[in-house]
Formats: sequence, C-alpha cells, structure tokens
Amino acid sequence: MKGIILAGGHGTRLHPITLGISKQLLPVYDKPMIYYPLSVLMLAGIVDIEIISTPRDLPAFRQLLGDGSSLGLSLTYAEQPEPRGLADAFLVSEKHIGGDSVMLILGDNVFHGPGFSATLQRAASRVEGCVLFGYPVHDPDRYGVAEVDEDGVLVGLQEKPASPRSNLAITGLYAYDNEVVEIARSLQPSARGELEITDVNRAYLARGSAELVLLGRGFVWLDTGTHESLIEAGQYVEILERRQGVRIACIEEIALHMGYIDQDTCHRLGRRLAKSPYGQYVMDVAAAS
Ligand code: G1P
Repeated sequence: MKGIILAGGHGTRLHPITLGISKQLLPVYDKPMIYYPLSVLMLAGIVDIEIISTPRDLPAFRQLLGDGSSLGLSLTYAEQPEPRGLADAFLVSEKHIGGDSVMLILGDNVFHGPGFSATLQRAASRVEGCVLFGYPVHDPDRYGVAEVDEDGVLVGLQEKPASPRSNLAITGLYAYDNEVVEIARSLQPSARGELEITDVNRAYLARGSAELVLLGRGFVWLDTGTHESLIEAGQYVEILERRQGVRIACIEEIALHMGYIDQDTCHRLGRRLAKSPYGQYVMDVAAAS
C-alpha cells in the first residue's frame, strides 16, 4: 500500500502566520505538525509515501524530511499549485499510486489512541473498496458526516450538512483500493469548485464497498486548522508527554519499533538533535531497545 500526506492549501484560517510558512510545518508542541500524520502512515506499515504541497512550501518539507531513507522510508514530493479539493490528491499522485492501494491522510489531522496501530494495519491489509474512520463530535456540521443504521452499518454520507443525521464525523484518514484513481477522474467539481472526497466515498458506498471503522470514546482526533485548535492540540501533546515521559509521533522511535531502522541508526538520528529534549529522547529510546 502507498501513502499520501496532503499538506497543501494556503492555511487562510491561520493568517498571518501562514503567509510565510506552511500550516503543516507549524509546531504542535515539540515537533512539526506533519510528524503526526507521517507517524500514522508509518504505524500502518506504509513506507512509500508522497507528500503533496504547494510549490512555495515543498522545498521546506524536503529540507525537513529529505528522501526519507534515514528513517527507512521512501518519500517523494508532488506539487499542487492550487487547492482543488482533497480528491485531487489521487490525480496529483497517480504515478506514485501506480497499481497499488493507497492510504490518504490530511496533513493537519492528529490521531492518538490505544490500539490504533492494529486498527491501521487491519485497514491497510484490506485491499477492496474503502475504509473510512468515524469519530463522534459535538459539531458534525463542520465535517463529512456518516449516517449509520441501527447495526452501525454505513448507509449515507453528507459533506458539511446543515442538519447532520448523526454526530459521526468522517476523519481525514482514508484507505482505498486502486479504483480510487478512476473514481477521482470521473468527479465533477462541487459548488465550492473542489473535487470532494465525500463524492469519492459516496461512489464506494453506492458500490456497497465502503466500510466505516469507529474511533470511539477514549480516542483522540484533533484538527489543527484554527488558532484555538492548534493550541489545544499542542496542550494535549504536552500534557500526555510530560505526564507519561513518552513522546507521541516521534518518527525515529516509530521507525525503530516498526523495524525500518536499527538501533545504531536511531541513536545517530537522535545525536543530530542532541541539544533538544526530543533528540535526547530519541537517543534514550535507541539505548533502551
Ligand atoms: C475535509 C473533508 C471532510 C472531512 C474533514 C476532516 O474537510 O471534506 O469530509 O470530515 O476534511 O478533517 P475540509 O478540511 O476540506 O473542510
């Protein structure tokens, strides 16, 4: 399975901060925002990942993450000059996807919860149809919304409905079989002029091959697109990390635990950052393994 991180857009809700830097490079407490979605794909077992961003911001992502080889990954970069909708990612990354299945994650989504790796790996091993992840929120009208029957089976999907039929938001993490490229190609832009991911998901639902996985109570899904939500996400990470002495979305630690790199490589990666507590942590993780 291939991975895509969509880190484009102009971050207009965070102006003036994002006039000079990509939203997905802003800090969420102790690391750049993109580490969080990158961690999710790595935990799913995906090593071949394309990062989509604007021509202005791609050089900075490249500077941060390079070709990924130091983490045992293969990272490529693709330009999306204008935000044309989430589903445009499959057209921009068509070559990267090739004949494979693909997991897409939005560059500003933070996921954290028990058993998440196993959930991800199950979704990644399913190659037919699509897998969506639902999360109960108090303001579903801000999101894609899942309608489910009394057995919890997905029966409808609406994008930002005025009267949501449930409180289940569709999160910014999606797994698809290879049909997704053809489906994206057949879409018409919506009223807001974008290729909507919800239309892609509806096409799968109409074929009877859309599965909804519930991320329930005790799970954390945060978006980071406003000043308040960005601070809140940072506070969540800070509280958890300081209390437990672990780090969320530490890509070096995940690479080590997933077997993408060995202990020596992990230690070397930490040493490069040794003046920061993050770097110290990476070295400690390597030493303890
Ligand atoms: C997009 C999708 C929406 C989804 C959300 C998750 O919304 O269109 O279905 O629930 O991401 O973050 P947007 O960020 O474009 O408002």
